[in-house]
Amino acid sequence: MNIVVTGGAGFIGSHLVDALLARGDSVVVFDDLSTGTPENLASALASGRCELRVQDVSQGIDCDIRVQEVYHLASPASPPAYLAHPLETLAVGSEGTRHALELARRDGANFLLASTSEVYGDPVEHPQRESYWGNVNPVGPRSVYDEAKRFAEALTTAYRCTHQLPVAIVRIFNTFGPRLAEGDGRVVSNFICQSLRGEPLTVYGTGEQTRSLCYVSDLVRGLQLACATAFGEPINLGNPNEMTVLDIATLILGATGSASEIVHQPLPQDDPTRRRPDIERAATVLGWSPAIDVATGIEMTVTHFAKQLGLR
Ligand SMILES: NC(=O)c1ccc[n+]([C@@H]2O[C@H](COP(=O)([O-])OP(=O)(O)OC[C@H]3O[C@@H](n4cnc5c(N)ncnc54)[C@H](O)[C@@H]3O)[C@@H](O)[C@H]2O)c1
Repeated sequence: MNIVVTGGAGFIGSHLVDALLARGDSVVVFDDLSTGTPENLASALASGRCELRVQDVSQGIDCDIRVQEVYHLASPASPPAYLAHPLETLAVGSEGTRHALELARRDGANFLLASTSEVYGDPVEHPQRESYWGNVNPVGPRSVYDEAKRFAEALTTAYRCTHQLPVAIVRIFNTFGPRLAEGDGRVVSNFICQSLRGEPLTVYGTGEQTRSLCYVSDLVRGLQLACATAFGEPINLGNPNEMTVLDIATLILGATGSASEIVHQPLPQDDPTRRRPDIERAATVLGWSPAIDVATGIEMTVTHFAKQLGLR
């Protein structure tokens, strides 16, 4: 197949591109390189079946080939990235999504929206099922991301209902693995880099807040299944193994053999206190569940960062 991946030079996107190429597909990546890098696509570009077009998809998507699948991942994803670019985040969630949907409609392609567990906000229902509508502060600092994704889900649903477009809406929970951008504020890459450098690990608040971490290869497998299935209604993808942030810190200190201490800093505004996906729908509709346990995933990620930091 010919496939478009927006945001394909980023962390998840580049792993998705690698998996599509391994399946035998050809891929065109549209990415403005705001948080992604061409280095993430080094092996993909060397394959001769992947092309990188540097373009802001909020402005349009100039695609001159006929495509069978469109994966829309372009968006700042880490809090520091979207807090630094609030207007761009809203633009890519709205106009960027519309351009990606229009491309899929033009070619009758399956469309996948990379949505997020952040549509649940600070959830009062736990674990989060797809039927839960969420608890989002529409004017809080995080709203530029949360509401952009909620709008993107609404727009995708409107294309499904109005144009009968085959769509998948995937609510991604915390995902980790090699190629997470160093220093972009995500919990796993933060802790691993701090541990490897022997710096204190920064825990926001008490560290009793929970996250559920999914290894990137599991997530990518779920994205491929979801796009092919085009179920229409949202589907959670994540690992239901819920851990406190302190548990994650302890696991990473063990995996790196680091003696770093843990320091606490104030909790950012509207930081979600609990996160755990209910993945029954993914299991039923897609036959999907994560296969890589968190400790194994952390080891593979530590190996990657140690190499990147020139430490091993
Ligand atoms: N990593 C996670 O845990 C997670 C969780 C939930 C949802 N998601 C979603 O998955 C997608 C990928 O996230 P990621 O973790 O790989 O983040 P990332 O920052 O590594 O990748 C995002 C990519 O989108 C590109 N991009 C941003 N704005 C763009 C624009 N206007 N035009 C073209 N390209 C643009 C960036 O350059 C980058 O390559 C995002 O949509 C994110 O919201 C990720």
